[in-house]
Amino acid sequence: MRKVLLVFGTRPEAIKMCPLVRELQMRPAEFECVVCVTGQHREMLDQVLEAFGVVPDYDLALMRPGQTLSDVTCGVLQGMGSVLDEERPDVVLVHGDTTTSFAAALSCFYQRVPVGHVEAGLRTHDLSSPWPEEFNRQVVDIVSDYWFAPTETSRANLLAEGKPVERVWVTGNTGIDALATTVREGYTHPELEWASGSRLILVTAHRRENLGEPMHHMFRAIRRVMEEHPNTKAIYPIHMNPEVRAAAHAELDGFDRLHIINPLDVLDFHNFMAASDIILTDSGGIQEEAPALGKPVLVMRDTTERPEGVEAGTLKLVGTDEEAVYREFSRLLSDSAEYAAMSKASNPYGDGHASERIADVLQTPSSSADKGR
Ligand code: UD1
Ligand code: UDP
Repeated sequence: MRKVLLVFGTRPEAIKMCPLVRELQMRPAEFECVVCVTGQHREMLDQVLEAFGVVPDYDLALMRPGQTLSDVTCGVLQGMGSVLDEERPDVVLVHGDTTTSFAAALSCFYQRVPVGHVEAGLRTHDLSSPWPEEFNRQVVDIVSDYWFAPTETSRANLLAEGKPVERVWVTGNTGIDALATTVREGYTHPELEWASGSRLILVTAHRRENLGEPMHHMFRAIRRVMEEHPNTKAIYPIHMNPEVRAAAHAELDGFDRLHIINPLDVLDFHNFMAASDIILTDSGGIQEEAPALGKPVLVMRDTTERPEGVEAGTLKLVGTDEEAVYREFSRLLSDSAEYAAMSKASNPYGDGHASERIADVLQTPSSSADKGR
């Protein structure tokens, strides 16, 4: 029996870790599964926990309005110390690239507890984009003992950095596992009924490096294009960050074919994606989910650590410049060949069985040999 502690704190981590929690819980003879949430997010985290029926054993309840990266880092470091002392896990699993993941992995490093990195090896090789996530994911990979890479590309990134080949496993992305349980035939919602008969545009935006001018540019471009295309309606489930909300309301209020709504729970959001025609976003996770659903995505960022979706043709990197977003969004609405080419479903991020593969690795006795700490 191995004790596995899973630590996460934001919406996307929760969406991608809950399927793994469920998988480990289904193997009680093999694993004692302990869940610690940092509460880096509050409402948006709780929405996911509720949707998956996951009840954390620890909640560090960190979130404060306007929190800085230092606040979150210090809070996680302080809170994790006693959780690790109390639980003494055989391995701690963290996910991706958030401040929760970075600081939790650092706590483990300080206390010499082995770390497994779920969604390891994503890289832009540009520390300013996404910021601070590129730093976070590189640091987590430095201190990890198990690297669960979602794709061959991420595996190659890890091997190029000298990670031991026998401890890097290509598993697929656990986010795709979640998608299999959420998208439902016949799903309906009042917002989708409002949009029916129009081309449905789904919008999200929240990246820290896009706060301020870039975000205003993005929103202005979206509004200009939609004003020129009366057969479109947009739904924008807005992130709870007050800075994002202020920019969105400043640019988009008064335009009645775009509805700004509160964050959707994951079941609703996945079904909104499945019902949409075009997605405009700067999100990471949405870039993974959209190819599986065959939905064209204009990625409002300068870099992406998800080149597989670009190669598959579903994602197009358009940056945040107003004219560039305007041009590419207009083109996708007007050019049916371009639209058809971007609408082909593919699964570069996995087959929906990533959690099983990770559990299988952790269950294998030979994998438990750590790096000799
Ligand atoms: C964090 C992650 C980012 C991830 C994003 C997903 C870091 C550095 N960033 O960024 O990688 O893509 O989550 O959404 O870890 N807020 C609420 N309620 C919530 C959540 C957020 O009110 O449930 C507000 C708070 O005012 C908070 C602000 O949003 O201060 C920003 O949240 P924070 O976690 O610091 O950063 P994100 O931009 O969400
Ligand atoms: N998502 C959600 N509700 C929403 C918007 C997004 O459940 O209103 C989901 C989405 O399907 C994806 C994840 O949240 O799985 C992406 O989270 P976010 O964009 O906050 O962070 P990122 O992926 O950029 O780190």
